[in-house]
Amino acid sequence: MLGNFTFYNPTKIYFGKDALDNLKDELKNYGDVVCLIYGGGSIKKTGLYDKVMAILKEANKTVVEDAGVMPNPTVDKLYEGIKIARDSKASLLLAVGGGSVIDYAKAVSVSIHCKEDPWQKYYLDFKDVDNEIVPVGSILTMAGTGSEANGGAVITNPHQKLKIGHVFGPNVFPKFSILNPELTYTVPKYQMIAGIYDIMSHILEQYFSGDDDNTSDYVSEGLMKNLIKASLKAVKDPYDYEARSNIMWDATLALNTLVAMGKETDWMVHMLGQAVGAVTDATHGMTLSAVTKAYYEYIMPYGLHRFKRFAINVWNVDPTNKTDEQVAKDGLNEMLSWMKEIGLVMNLTDLGATLDMVDDIVKATALGGGYKKLNSDEVREIILASF
Ligand code: NZQ
Ligand code: ZN
Repeated sequence: MLGNFTFYNPTKIYFGKDALDNLKDELKNYGDVVCLIYGGGSIKKTGLYDKVMAILKEANKTVVEDAGVMPNPTVDKLYEGIKIARDSKASLLLAVGGGSVIDYAKAVSVSIHCKEDPWQKYYLDFKDVDNEIVPVGSILTMAGTGSEANGGAVITNPHQKLKIGHVFGPNVFPKFSILNPELTYTVPKYQMIAGIYDIMSHILEQYFSGDDDNTSDYVSEGLMKNLIKASLKAVKDPYDYEARSNIMWDATLALNTLVAMGKETDWMVHMLGQAVGAVTDATHGMTLSAVTKAYYEYIMPYGLHRFKRFAINVWNVDPTNKTDEQVAKDGLNEMLSWMKEIGLVMNLTDLGATLDMVDDIVKATALGGGYKKLNSDEVREIILASF
């Protein structure tokens, strides 16, 4: 573990079939007014809304609702949410949903008392929060983003064709998150597999960097093996509790800052995916899977040793009598086969993107990288190779 680091994750996690039982006691830590934030209505269909409302009522809370948070929440919706939470003087923002709902709640939480325009301040200028933050709690209904235990809050500005994530500090992490794997049973298959690949991508973005012998990489390899095994089971049987619970906890550990410790990290698949998302509004995990093949083929020569380790340790590739290049390629091909097997979108065409979008995608891509820092010509090359 080279260098110095601080690990601090203050989110309290309640995990398991009975996790929701803890909400009533948690609510004692906050004031009278709770702003209940949720998405397009799945929580009403599943009955979770009624259960949460009953607990809030029992706890004598005044509930203000902020509904209709869309996947890839927009800046316009953010302005709406700020007003609802500000006018009601909410003392807790209770986010019930997936990453979009929780990200959005965090963005609202730092904006309620913000004097400037939050899009400009946090997303264009990347300024820190210097005003009061209204606490967020979450009840997670879909596994993938890790938003339940991190400071990430991704907002899309369709007018500017930008999708930007601000990673806020631990003071913005949810104070508590309730994780019942059974709540994920009703997630549509398309969303479930997108979430699974989001988890894989989060791990890869951290794993594909650095050359040192690092504890984080061993943890990442375990998380990836668990994810691969559990994903194949969950695709066959969405009601497999063991598989769904392993996926859910894997998602949290993949992006609660743990496996980033001592790592330079990459995040370029996410930069490409976010740019695609800004232009297409496609599902996050699918924007990542669609650019994966082209990106990793491009950077493989620059990080060959790590691709070789990935092949052997994660995909059980036998290196006997093979060149390092061959081992590395075999590993990537194993991953691509797994991605196809679970049903992911493997190119931008199948995602609905068209060639006339390429300029906007390239423009919206923040440059960076791990083993290879990309320039915009290289980004264009990778995007074109993803069609
Ligand atoms: O809106 P509802 O009706 O709730 O339906 C949602 C939505 O349509 C549905 N869903 C969720 N739980 C369900 C369910 N349907 C039935 N049963 C359930 N139990 O699934 C759809 C997708 O939900 P969404 O929250 O958009 O998915 P996800 O969790 O993948 O979140 C995506 C957002 O998170 C951002 C992405 O960019 C995107 O905006 N990310 C956040 C990160 C972070 N905070 O660290 C990191 C990620 O890399 C990612 O960028
Ligand atoms: Zn992601």
